[in-house]
Amino acid sequence: MMVRHYRPVRAAELQRIAGMDFCPRPANAGPLALSANCDRTMTPSVLILNGPNLNLLGTRQPEVYGRATLADIERDCRAKADTLGLAVDFRQSNGEGTLIDWIHAARGTHAGIVLNAGAYTHTSIAIMDAISSVELPVIEVHLSNIHRREPFRHQSYISKVAVGMICGFGPFGYQIALEAIANHLGIATPRGTA
Ligand code: DQA
Repeated sequence: MMVRHYRPVRAAELQRIAGMDFCPRPANAGPLALSANCDRTMTPSVLILNGPNLNLLGTRQPEVYGRATLADIERDCRAKADTLGLAVDFRQSNGEGTLIDWIHAARGTHAGIVLNAGAYTHTSIAIMDAISSVELPVIEVHLSNIHRREPFRHQSYISKVAVGMICGFGPFGYQIALEAIANHLGIATPRGTA
């Protein structure tokens, strides 16, 4: 079995990857600026976005989506992110515009995005365009295997601009997505090759 270890990523390296500054910023911070006392070895941050109706996980069609709540998924994502050396910002909205605003704001703040856009996956050219606009790597996630379901779920606008898509593994898909984004960012390094 391959043992993996995760090395801290220097700010300069992440700036090269994502064109951004990794100084921790308060939620009400203004435009990005490097602070004088900023530690140059920062924890890269991933935005985990959840779309409409995912706030109802646990009670929503459990035969399709399982019994885990969104809070359970968030807790597990935080634990996983810790092991990967990532910070996470975990959010949910039922509003397409809110999700778009959060994607826009991710630029310069987050190194990448894990996105379960819910039903907007199948309809939202606007979310697809937002992802193209910010040029951040996006890993698409779905709890269910959308390709085993109704034909209208087989189409994903997110897949057209995502690095890749994970579906059908339930909440574990978020864990896989975090591994994938860490790997994509060059943060996860197989032992002996760092
Ligand atoms: C979903 C799949 C979508 O088709 C559906 O509209 C959802 C959840 C999933 O996680 O399996 O809301 O994104």
